[in-house]
Amino acid sequence: MAVPEKVLTNADIAQLVDTSDEWIRSRTGIEQRHIAAKNQTTASLATDAAVKALRMAKLRPDEVDLIIVSTSSPEHIFPATASLVQDRLGAENAGAFDLSAACSGFIYALNMASQAIRTGAVKSAVVIGAETLSRIVDWNDRNTCILFGDGAGAFVLQADETEVGGVLSSVMRSDGSGGSLLSLPGGGSAHPATSQTVLDGLHFIHMNGREVYRFATRVMAAASEEAVEKAGMEMDQIQWIIPHQANLRIIEAAARGLKMPMEQFIVNVNKYGNTSTASIPIAAVEAAEKGQLQRGDNIVIVGFGAGLTWGSAVVRWTGPFEDAPSVRLTPFRRAARVRSVLRRIWRFIEGVIWGRGKGPSA
Ligand code: UT7
Repeated sequence: MAVPEKVLTNADIAQLVDTSDEWIRSRTGIEQRHIAAKNQTTASLATDAAVKALRMAKLRPDEVDLIIVSTSSPEHIFPATASLVQDRLGAENAGAFDLSAACSGFIYALNMASQAIRTGAVKSAVVIGAETLSRIVDWNDRNTCILFGDGAGAFVLQADETEVGGVLSSVMRSDGSGGSLLSLPGGGSAHPATSQTVLDGLHFIHMNGREVYRFATRVMAAASEEAVEKAGMEMDQIQWIIPHQANLRIIEAAARGLKMPMEQFIVNVNKYGNTSTASIPIAAVEAAEKGQLQRGDNIVIVGFGAGLTWGSAVVRWTGPFEDAPSVRLTPFRRAARVRSVLRRIWRFIEGVIWGRGKGPSA
């Protein structure tokens, strides 16, 4: 995982909008969130998280076949943030694309990568959830600015003939009739960017919090149970639930719905706020680092978000990879930087040789 160093507390936010630490804590469970510095972007956080995940999995970047970045705050509309990450990692043999399913995106991306491995199409994949939501939040809107934070988390998935692990079942759902409940309306083909869209605030997150809350409490427990059933398991075979970290009250409602104690839920929304698609991998990494997740544990990951979308999966934890030899990634990153610059120079030289500015027919 990678989170920016800068922390914004509830007290800091109370200086910006009409709110209070007490209101935010009691309604959301959030105490602080991390905010990207000027030089940090979705691609930089995603790359930092991916480097750590590769180091943990002892996998060289040139062994990666697929990179998926799930995000709602991409570096640009295009090119894909995943391609920028691929270049920075030096993952020369990887395909790369972004996946847009808002806060449910990491679950969708994990499922897509796992299916690609299962068919034999790819052997190893890096799945990243990364956001810099602070860049698309209206810091004058107390309904939204209190909730969100920045960060990234990454998983490495690998084919393995011997060990049964990884994604055992998954549920992916969408109800586009609720699309307007949580959206970033401007900048796409419906409302291309103009000075008017900027004045109208269409490039910020718009949310009907109450409706999203109702929807979330409806789907979280049901989707978890569905994934467990699809995996051919019973709820008592699940050691941990890692829910999307949006609001402590939503997580508590899910616990009540599943009749499971809160002790089995991984919760860190207090420290990071809602980092959208990054929240599940960040929570998983923290739990692994604390020694909560043990090899062989069955985990339900479950989330909801804009779309509307929701999803869940049963995942069997298989790390850490103690037997494999460790890899040194710094030389790879240096080589990647040099290669990227050389490729740009080569494209320039090619342009000079073949005639810059002339089209293919010239
Ligand atoms: O990843 C998915 C992203 N979205 C979500 O997860 C959002 C889900 N929804 C929520 O988490 C909650 O709906 C919120 C935390 C956004 C709001 O909590 P709520 O308990 O649903 O509050 P509310 O919207 O019903 O508002 C209650 C009152 C309102 O005042 P009135 O109309 O009752 O006079 C709001 O204007 O609280 C007011 N309010 C605030 N007061 C202080 C709204 N935001 C704030 C604020 N500080 N930041």
